[in-house]
Amino acid sequence: MVGRNTQGRLVVVSNRVALPAQTATGGLASAMRAALQERGGLWFGWSGKVVRQDSGEVHRLRDGMVEYATIDLSRADHDDFYDGFANRTLWPLLHYRPDLVDYDRKHLAGYLRVNNLFAEHLMSLVKPNDIVWVNDYHLIPLAAMLRQRGLRNRIGFFLHTPLPAAGLLIALPRHRELMETLAHYDLVGLHTARDRRALEEYFLYEVGASMRRDGRLRTPEGRLFRAEVFPIGIDTQQVAESARRADEREEIHQLRQSLEGRALIIGVDRLDYSKGLPERFQAYARLLERSPQLHRKVSFLQIAPPSRGGVPEYRQIRRELERSAGHINGMYAAPDWVPIRYVNNSFPHSLLSGYYRAARVGLVTPLRDGMNLVAKEYVASQDPEDPGVLVLSRFAGAAQELTQALLVNPADTEEVAEALGIALTMPLYERRLRWRRMMDVLEKQDVTAWRNAFLRRLAE
Ligand code: UDP
Ligand code: G6P
Repeated sequence: MVGRNTQGRLVVVSNRVALPAQTATGGLASAMRAALQERGGLWFGWSGKVVRQDSGEVHRLRDGMVEYATIDLSRADHDDFYDGFANRTLWPLLHYRPDLVDYDRKHLAGYLRVNNLFAEHLMSLVKPNDIVWVNDYHLIPLAAMLRQRGLRNRIGFFLHTPLPAAGLLIALPRHRELMETLAHYDLVGLHTARDRRALEEYFLYEVGASMRRDGRLRTPEGRLFRAEVFPIGIDTQQVAESARRADEREEIHQLRQSLEGRALIIGVDRLDYSKGLPERFQAYARLLERSPQLHRKVSFLQIAPPSRGGVPEYRQIRRELERSAGHINGMYAAPDWVPIRYVNNSFPHSLLSGYYRAARVGLVTPLRDGMNLVAKEYVASQDPEDPGVLVLSRFAGAAQELTQALLVNPADTEEVAEALGIALTMPLYERRLRWRRMMDVLEKQDVTAWRNAFLRRLAE
């Protein structure tokens, strides 16, 4: 096991850092927080603050065994790197939305500038025996920049998003310059076999790499690296425990009381176009249309904290959902019943797990998602005696493991509405059976197992 006694400190690098006591919306922050808590280490990344001019200062903080080192971003860096190349170019591309890709050389320059800035800081933070673990699409070229500066440590990379096939990746201008830098990592981790195949295909056919007998890829320049599948997990026991405890909380009592015996359907997502929210609202409306007997018997709570408000597509989806929720409520609401409760706040895990537990159905229907931790958290939060049902998109990485969910194509309104109907009437014995099987997977492949598997491989 890769435990505390492994040689060298663990240095996690990611754009988003979950500082202590912060509600960390986003799977990466949730997972890395859980992964670091028990093992300890250093977490380096963006402070979340945008300043007029970067002072070059590193903010240090310690919480138990985790040390945090964060930097602010200047307005120009934030706009070009975060709002620009990371979230207007790479994010839509990686989520199979070439129609939304906005490419701008200035944004790419900002992306490289911030990666260089990260590399500069890391050169003075990393010690010779440390293991460096870089996370996500914001920081693809970081290893190449660290190597250039002479860093010889083990460096691993984990991509938290899907990776589309080469045919799509090549739509990105100068894709090779970016993608080839992945070969500077010792290990590249992906969520699913499909993502790994996409990476291999890209290196074999676009870069001209070869596959060695030991499974490593070899680039024409002779660089060797390994790409493997590590499906990310959650802290299953902790989520289950937190859901049990949440039952005692006033907020959960209030929610249950407000339901007056109605079955609750819950959705929890960052307000992101990849999450399939308009399609989900449509499917719920279709359910109400075809099942008048459910009117006033069911309530749909959608929690959707705003995300990346500097990117126009995110502002657009927010407006669209407000309209859609208003429209559906206008159509079906009664003086004592609101069909959709649409909430734009974020909530801490300690409360979310209680909301999940109070819901008969977890509705998780992204159009594309690397993993989707909400699906896993929903399952882990259930009462074993009376568990709810998960309706899950086939296009979430989680569908590879949670095969006992009701799997749907989120674009098929009719299919999702049908699945909701089945979920709402599923007999207890079947709910228990499905839940137990999914929980077995979550208990075995939790976040600790994920971290250990990745670090073990990286250390080899
Ligand atoms: N989350 C949270 N509070 C909220 C909404 C979401 O803590 O109000 C957390 C949620 O519990 C999960 C993460 O944000 O751990 C979302 O991860 P997921 O993989 O589902 O999607 P992502 O946002 O990373 O695309
Ligand atoms: C996804 C990405 C993460 C990101 C998170 C929240 O999970 O894979 O890298 O941190 O969304 O998005 P944000 O832009 O707020 O960091």
